[in-house]
Amino acid sequence: MKSYFVTGTDTGVGKTVITAAIAASLRKRGIDVGVMKPIASGVAQRTGFKSPDVKLLCESAEVNDMEDMINPIFLPLPASPYDVSKILNLKIDMKVISEKFEQLRKIHQMLLVEGIGGIMTPITKDFFVTDLIKLMNLETIVVTRSTLGTINHTVMTIEMCKKYQIHLKGLVVNYFDEKGGPAERNAPATLHEITRLPILGIIPFVKDYQKPEVMTNIIEKNMDLNSLIS
Ligand SMILES: Nc1ncnc2c1ncn2[C@@H]1O[C@H](COP(=O)(O)OP(=O)(O)O)[C@@H](O)[C@H]1O
Ligand SMILES: [Mg+2]
Repeated sequence: MKSYFVTGTDTGVGKTVITAAIAASLRKRGIDVGVMKPIASGVAQRTGFKSPDVKLLCESAEVNDMEDMINPIFLPLPASPYDVSKILNLKIDMKVISEKFEQLRKIHQMLLVEGIGGIMTPITKDFFVTDLIKLMNLETIVVTRSTLGTINHTVMTIEMCKKYQIHLKGLVVNYFDEKGGPAERNAPATLHEITRLPILGIIPFVKDYQKPEVMTNIIEKNMDLNSLIS
């Protein structure tokens, strides 16, 4: 079964929410799906997993893998990995990420890897999220907003993916409000028209986005899950 890298047009567009929701839905269909967040940055939670992203991903996928496998690198400042490494004088070891990635891939039928920030977020000075995707050699899903401004961000993201010869699976349009303005209502069709990429899902705002049982219903209704499995 194929594994996927999930990136987004920016930070906060819904990479974690969508990855977790897809993981929960695959698990409900009886697929042993693993999750990985190779690098997380931010303020560590006081209890449990340091990263709230990792917590939601693990709960949704129902996995018990060690935190240092799922999230080998946690950086304790909300900044790009390169910035954190400069500020705290740390070295980011890509080898540990590759090792844990290979191990997780062997344990599970398929793996969903959540990126960090957007496609050109620097991990080191000259190694970006694009390079991480190339290293992992995964097909990539791009999560994008549906609100005004998304066309510009999405097209730039896709063009950069093309430059790096990243294999794109398609787009997931998040936060969709069918009662939204004209830009929003048109966003999925226009994004498809311009990028020629499949729209894998159009996901609305969900108040209970942290509840896997809620999100599995949303995914089954609003996403082409079969296209990820085949
Ligand atoms: N479909 C959604 N419905 C409701 N809230 C959402 C949805 N997608 C994202 N959010 C909100 O936006 C925040 C950022 O989403 P997240 O998935 O963490 O973004 P990213 O991983 O791209 O940084 C979430 O914590 C949540 O509050
Ligand atoms: Mg996230």
